[in-house]
Amino acid sequence: MCGIVGYVGHRRALNVLINGLQRLEYRGYDSAGFSLIENGKIVSYKKQGKVSDLVVLLNGLEFKSNIGIAHTRWATHGEPNDINAHPHLDNSGNISIVHNGIIENYATLKLWLKEKGYFFKSETDTEVLSVLIGYFYEKFKDLEKAVRIALSKVKGTFGVAVISSYEPNKIIAARRGSPIIVGIGEDEYIVASDASAIIQYTRQVTYLSDNELVIITKDGYQTKTIDNLPTSSDIQVLEFDLSKIEKGGFEHFMLKEIFEQPQTIQDACRGRLLVDEGNARLGGLLPVIDKLQNVDRILITACGTSWHAALIGEYLIENLCGIPVEVEYASEFRYRNPIIRQNDIVIAISQSGETADTLAAVQEAKRKKATVLGIVNVVGSSIARETDAGVYIHAGPEIGVASTKAFTSQLVILTLISLLLGRMRSLSQEEGILIANEIKALPEKVNKILQNAEQLRQIAKEFSYSRNFLYLGRGYNFPVALEGALKLKEISYIHAEGYPSAEMKHGPIALIDENMPVVFIAPKDPIYNKVLSNIEEVRSRRGRVISIATEGDENMKKYAEKVIYIPETLPMLTPILSVIPLQLLAYYIAVELGCNVDQPRNLAKSVTVE
Ligand code: G6P
Repeated sequence: MCGIVGYVGHRRALNVLINGLQRLEYRGYDSAGFSLIENGKIVSYKKQGKVSDLVVLLNGLEFKSNIGIAHTRWATHGEPNDINAHPHLDNSGNISIVHNGIIENYATLKLWLKEKGYFFKSETDTEVLSVLIGYFYEKFKDLEKAVRIALSKVKGTFGVAVISSYEPNKIIAARRGSPIIVGIGEDEYIVASDASAIIQYTRQVTYLSDNELVIITKDGYQTKTIDNLPTSSDIQVLEFDLSKIEKGGFEHFMLKEIFEQPQTIQDACRGRLLVDEGNARLGGLLPVIDKLQNVDRILITACGTSWHAALIGEYLIENLCGIPVEVEYASEFRYRNPIIRQNDIVIAISQSGETADTLAAVQEAKRKKATVLGIVNVVGSSIARETDAGVYIHAGPEIGVASTKAFTSQLVILTLISLLLGRMRSLSQEEGILIANEIKALPEKVNKILQNAEQLRQIAKEFSYSRNFLYLGRGYNFPVALEGALKLKEISYIHAEGYPSAEMKHGPIALIDENMPVVFIAPKDPIYNKVLSNIEEVRSRRGRVISIATEGDENMKKYAEKVIYIPETLPMLTPILSVIPLQLLAYYIAVELGCNVDQPRNLAKSVTVE
């Protein structure tokens, strides 16, 4: 989704901006642009399409400017085209802004400004903000004040960066609900919506809080609230390396991230898995340990892949701890007036920590006085900061839009939480030790599955012609069926549906014929025989069965046209293994079809709008 970069310092700003935009490409966008202050004037270029299209537009032009802002836009108000792309200028052409988020009262403000004689070139909400800042600048002749007053009139969310030829040495940036990070270098500052645009230049960063604003020159920065009260800012150190946001020899980020999973699963467990005690130590939950002890019910809320992890979390927690769990899409939770009682705990799961619906669900739960925990990947993200306590999954930056390694790490963390809660209740040490040992063995098992990637590539070749896929699983592997189907549709644009295997007979069975591939997740577990019956039902209608089965299950070859083996583990841990071949299958089919795997059409990595 939209990305912001700004630079002020001793380097040529344009290089830093273009580089930053390229680092933000993974978030998904449809146009890009920048503004510089060159020889005292604003110079802007913007273009529908990729950052590379913007670079072509420059056709070797050189700019010496040391200050500028840039943006990748994911259309919300107005179609993706050159005019709607950011930056947007005020009517004088002397103030330029880039903006993430949504100005909800833009129509009212636009009308008000039009009545005063101001004009608009684009259909965007952002241009309304730039013109509004221009209006207040004319009044106060003070850029910072103009930005503050304009932002105080705005309803909605923003991460915004502003430059002006009136005060050509400063960038003003502000946030409400959409992240802004300031990278602190030596005599240089990079402001961005995402740490990936900063890490190449500095590891020292400060995160703006909601309703906070920063004024940056090459000599320093000052933070305050939008209401002009001083604030203090903590400097934090980014912990990932540049190599983590580069492809490292893989053709796509998604493939790299799939292959990182043995490591990321281990990283999620590091220092947390207490094998000998059959327990888990989760430092981030210590502040709420009493609440966990007394919890009566857990609500888990999330979107997309994280919601699939939540569904598995429900099975894990109910099975290991006997605590009732409900899972709800964050977009529903936030508007549904959910019932939250005194001893309930709400858990929000989010890779990015910025998903607008999940963030709003967290805020709604907090309003209802719930204890809210986060299971988040991006350190310092909005959800991580808003929750009372939580656990980072430590999967490192996930760049491919389709989530892979974050999913398996979320499952590991949910298992560790279940272990911890279970051991506080009736789970015996012996059972705990058994589970902990199996968790410890997962990275090696994932490695083994990855070594079989070539088989998945071959299957992908054979099945890439199909226009529909069905994914079926039961128990812990029902959400994996949903996730496998989601992966395929996200990156290959093939229609795919996930169902609990037994539900097939209530509808999807009508679709089955010789052209329908059906992927069964059928490990050897207590419901294996039931799944075999479901496979029979598909075969008898000439559907083409691809099965994910447990190593050693030779019997499965009689049932399925293709069998992909995964090592044996406890049923509760099978999702962490069974999803890997599904990720690879989706990946190779998308590659086979020539799709843009890392940046699929219309999707965004981090959905910061409703
Ligand atoms: C977007 C991404 C998905 C992700 C979902 C939730 O739709 O494309 O991959 O699962 O958002 O994101 P979150 O960052 O909250 O996990």
